[in-house]
Amino acid sequence: MLRKAILPAAGMGTRFLPVTKASPKEMLPIVDKPLIQYSVEECERCGIREFIIITGKNKRAIEDHFDQFSELEEVLKQKGLDNLIEEINRHDESHFAYIRQSKPLGLGHAILCAKAFVKDEPFAVLLGDDIIDPDDTLLMDMIEIYRKYRSPVVALQEVPDDEVSKYGIVDGEPVIDFDTHNNPKQLYKINALIEKPRIEDAPSNLAVIGRYILTADIFDVLETIKPGRGGEYQLTDALNMLLSNRVVYGYLFKGNRYDAGDKFGFLKATIELSLKRPEFSEDLKKYVKALAGRL
Ligand code: G1P
Repeated sequence: MLRKAILPAAGMGTRFLPVTKASPKEMLPIVDKPLIQYSVEECERCGIREFIIITGKNKRAIEDHFDQFSELEEVLKQKGLDNLIEEINRHDESHFAYIRQSKPLGLGHAILCAKAFVKDEPFAVLLGDDIIDPDDTLLMDMIEIYRKYRSPVVALQEVPDDEVSKYGIVDGEPVIDFDTHNNPKQLYKINALIEKPRIEDAPSNLAVIGRYILTADIFDVLETIKPGRGGEYQLTDALNMLLSNRVVYGYLFKGNRYDAGDKFGFLKATIELSLKRPEFSEDLKKYVKALAGRL
């Protein structure tokens, strides 16, 4: 059973300045929910109820968001707004722990900060910039693959050449004996990973996107890696080293992912996720069509 997820949230959000100067990037709203809540709900849909959020400076709002707020509840009760009480208490069944990463030493270091919390269990890592379509079953599929093979699984997506240098890129071979309901070509056995290569050094266009199912042996490797790309401790480098001890799988995701850490990606996520909200869907569709006609 996979019970725990690590949500790294210590980054300074430089791609989204100025709004991230004093507010956490993870609290930027898509309609009425902050980005990080989309990751939390994605986990909850898979039965994951224990969250460790790796925070840093200026991130207090995240803790407040997942905490109880009895004064607000009282006000809502007096106003008869019971549906909103339910909404703000949506995550009551989940447990949240916070660890501060006091220096920006990279994703690998952020994950290592959670070692004592995770102990020897397998766990998920979700990078909140990557918003996965809530109707998709990506994380559930990855958990299913983990259950079958008992090996780490990373999510992959094909990216165009000019985006290769933004991602961890894998060299992998398709696994053909994969017999779940999934398409066999969607599963890869990984031979090597390289963090943000130049296109001429990239072994493929298969990029690691922000969903990982990891096993606790990654912590031992994270303790030994040297700073890599950008002088940071890279999870990609640790996974690459792990390959000498065990198989790591890549699961090719064909659904919709939005890079909400990027301003244009965030706009697209806002529009598309709003179109899925029954209360706006029809009006927004009409509006977008009318707007397109005027452009
Ligand atoms: C991180 C990882 C990278 C991965 C990417 C996915 O990079 O280091 O391997 O491909 O997330 O979004 P970041 O975007 O934090 O620089």
